[in-house]
Amino acid sequence: MFEIIRRDGLARIGRFTTTSGRTMETPALFPVINPKINTVPARELYDKFGFKSLITNSYIIKNTPDLKEKAQELGLHEMLDFPGIIMTDSGTFQSHMYGEVELTNEEIIEFQKSIGTDIGTVLDIFTEPYWTKEQTAKSIEVTLERTQQACDMKGDMMLNGVAQGSIYTDLREDCARRMATMDIDVHPVGGIVPLMEQYRYAELVDVVMSSKKGLNPNRPVHAFGAGHPMVLALLALMGCDFFDSASYAKFARDDRMMFVDGTFRLQDMESLDCNCPACRGHTLEGLRKMEKKAKTKLIAEHNLYQITQELALVRRYIKEGRLWELAEIRCRAHPALLNALRRLKEYQGVMEMYDPISREGAIFYTGPESRNRPVFKRYLDRLGTRYVPPTRKAAVFPDCQGKPYSRPYAEEFDKARRAGYTPIVMAPFGPVPAELDEMYPLAQSLFPEIMDDETETASEGITYQFLQMMGFESVVFGAENIPDDGTEEFDANLLRAKAVSRYQFGIEATEALFRGEVQLVTSRKTGKIRNVISDGEHVLSMRAGDGMYTLKMEGAKRIVEACPAPFMRVQVMDDSVPFVAEGRNAFAQFVTDCDPEIRLMEEVIVVDRNDTPIATGRAFLVPFEIKQMKKGMAVKVRSGSSDE
Ligand code: GUN
Ligand code: ZN
Repeated sequence: MFEIIRRDGLARIGRFTTTSGRTMETPALFPVINPKINTVPARELYDKFGFKSLITNSYIIKNTPDLKEKAQELGLHEMLDFPGIIMTDSGTFQSHMYGEVELTNEEIIEFQKSIGTDIGTVLDIFTEPYWTKEQTAKSIEVTLERTQQACDMKGDMMLNGVAQGSIYTDLREDCARRMATMDIDVHPVGGIVPLMEQYRYAELVDVVMSSKKGLNPNRPVHAFGAGHPMVLALLALMGCDFFDSASYAKFARDDRMMFVDGTFRLQDMESLDCNCPACRGHTLEGLRKMEKKAKTKLIAEHNLYQITQELALVRRYIKEGRLWELAEIRCRAHPALLNALRRLKEYQGVMEMYDPISREGAIFYTGPESRNRPVFKRYLDRLGTRYVPPTRKAAVFPDCQGKPYSRPYAEEFDKARRAGYTPIVMAPFGPVPAELDEMYPLAQSLFPEIMDDETETASEGITYQFLQMMGFESVVFGAENIPDDGTEEFDANLLRAKAVSRYQFGIEATEALFRGEVQLVTSRKTGKIRNVISDGEHVLSMRAGDGMYTLKMEGAKRIVEACPAPFMRVQVMDDSVPFVAEGRNAFAQFVTDCDPEIRLMEEVIVVDRNDTPIATGRAFLVPFEIKQMKKGMAVKVRSGSSDE
């Protein structure tokens, strides 16, 4: 069973539990144990490094008589002396490396069951990146047949059904989709090792993203054969949960040390600037002179520490909602990785579906590639379709460091508005109208004062396009070009209240929310908007942290009246209506329908089958996941109809 505990876009922190009751936290790496070599004993992986899982090769065990006998007699866990989760591979990788293996799928599945593995693997066909599309498509059919056969035989053993497809994104997606319907437990993405060996990281992005599109979001995704610390953040960002590494030991045998910024040969290194528990107290000279076996062990341990350290960091960044930043930093370690980061732009639209509507903490810009993040697209999409300029004239101001912009520009904005101009800042995000400047992500972001040409050009281009699209009759630049004697009256708070509502809920819903007499309750301390009261009804509350609204029941009722279903709705079964109405959360298995446009953490309205609103809350899953998930909280309910 796989339970998602925290998430950041496609990335997630989960808890995986096997049929046998062993559990682990993800993202996690399965170190490869070669039972013949045992560079770092399994028990040490568990006790000293904290690995709760490992992977070993059932094909090697089966072909080594004494290992085979021992494994079948004692079981894998006792043979390896490993109390954690054991995954076994099937021999597919041997056929990729050395050609045909003499083995049937049936035999290796039966064998994996007989040695008590937690997660066994189908004998899939490794689709090589140089294969033709026809060859790839044919072999996928065989892999799918074998996967079905394995599902029928698996019993209590959990099963890896490997999604293949070489570099053909349509085949990848189709294969993944068909895997998603089968009774498998883990979704490895296979055939990616040669792409990583050849530094074809942009294609790796294509392969993983197209596979993810089809896979079941309920199951962990395993980047099969990926375990270098420098790619972990990127792969986690794309939604990979499991990794495995044979390199930590293989590289160690060749005196190669892994770091987050690459792999370095002991003979080429200028210093041993590593403070991991394995390296501590050693010098480069000393390490070079070490006896071969001890040296291999030390380097393998160093490599494992680099992996565990990076995984801990990945988990922390997911919790902080900042994994994009870590991935961007890591992808600067090598130009081929930077390619991958740039390729992610192609998937900005897909990732936007999963990007939370707001998050705690500020967005840090790390360079022009940061603009590929979904948050930039979200802002511009909504600005283009949901913003209504309050006047026919615009005054454009340059970006500045103080945020929200209406603080440093207090006088200038006031002057503009009195003269009938709408103040707009030409920001790295694109145009930022004064009304939106306190809202996430605009106020909660940090950019360097010295802008790069790319972002400056983009910011200008998008702003000009926006000014044209909004049809302003007149545009001036800077406060000095605004007439001094303006006498227009305006209510800055009301302009902000409506603009944020349109951004969050759209133009139609905002009409309904701001109907009749509107009264804004502001904080006595900060002067910021707290509550929106319309015709005596409390419809919205504004959060101080992200400058966005929470929707009240009265507001929800108005939206349901004004905007036809399924807009903003999550519909639940009769059985769960009384619970949700009392304020309990809405779970995915009880959802019968929902608005396909709902984004993560967005305000939603829970309704019964007659479209009567029964609660408001925030979406914890996206529509695609709500449909697929058998478990999990779909809506974190804030207030139900029966407690008002
Ligand atoms: N190890 C690395 N890549 C693969 C793969 O595609 N299939 C299997 N079974 N094992 C792998
Ligand atoms: Zn070290």
